Amino acid sequence: MPIVRQKKIEVLFSAEQIAARNRELAELIALSDLRNILVISILKGSFVFAADLIRALHGAGLAPEVEFISISSYGAGTEAGEVRLLRDVDTDVAGRDVLLIDDILESGNTLKYTRDLMLSRGARKVGIAVLLDKSMKRKADLTADYTGFECPDQFVVGYGMDVAHAFRELPFVGVVTGDA
Ligand code: IMP
Ligand code: MG
Repeated sequence: MPIVRQKKIEVLFSAEQIAARNRELAELIALSDLRNILVISILKGSFVFAADLIRALHGAGLAPEVEFISISSYGAGTEAGEVRLLRDVDTDVAGRDVLLIDDILESGNTLKYTRDLMLSRGARKVGIAVLLDKSMKRKADLTADYTGFECPDQFVVGYGMDVAHAFRELPFVGVVTGDA
């Protein structure tokens, strides 16, 4: 079991599993009706997944534009689920086919807010790609179009995801199980 920062980490999804799944997702996206895709990576958690998925999209013959948006959600697990826009995209999305990329779809508040924002700005289509789906935690009425893996109801880290700003650098997705 990997040990990082004096903690034991159980690997849930290995770098190899993720890379293989990214190639499959890219092939599915290439077969979709999304055209001249504008990728919007939801920061911070999705930056590693987005970086790999856009390169897999290149492998599948696509040439997406790439944008970033920063969203914070307070009390993601609560009914309130307040979502705030911290940093907006620079690109006009009117008439565009947008692919939102996030690390985890949990309550759905973050992605519902972001999707509705892009639709209100006149995006032609908004697709959603997430690495992990905690479907048992859903509150908003929302499903992803492209999901890497169904995620167990555990707090995961790595591959861009953090706990208290740590572990984003891990090349795999794992769960902190205790002290080393
Ligand atoms: P939602 O608005 O409840 O769907 O929130 C999803 C967001 O919560 C994701 O983009 C992550 O940033 C964060 N999140 C949810 N579960 C985890 C986890 O297990 N580890 C790290 N971040 C998480
Ligand atoms: Mg996030």
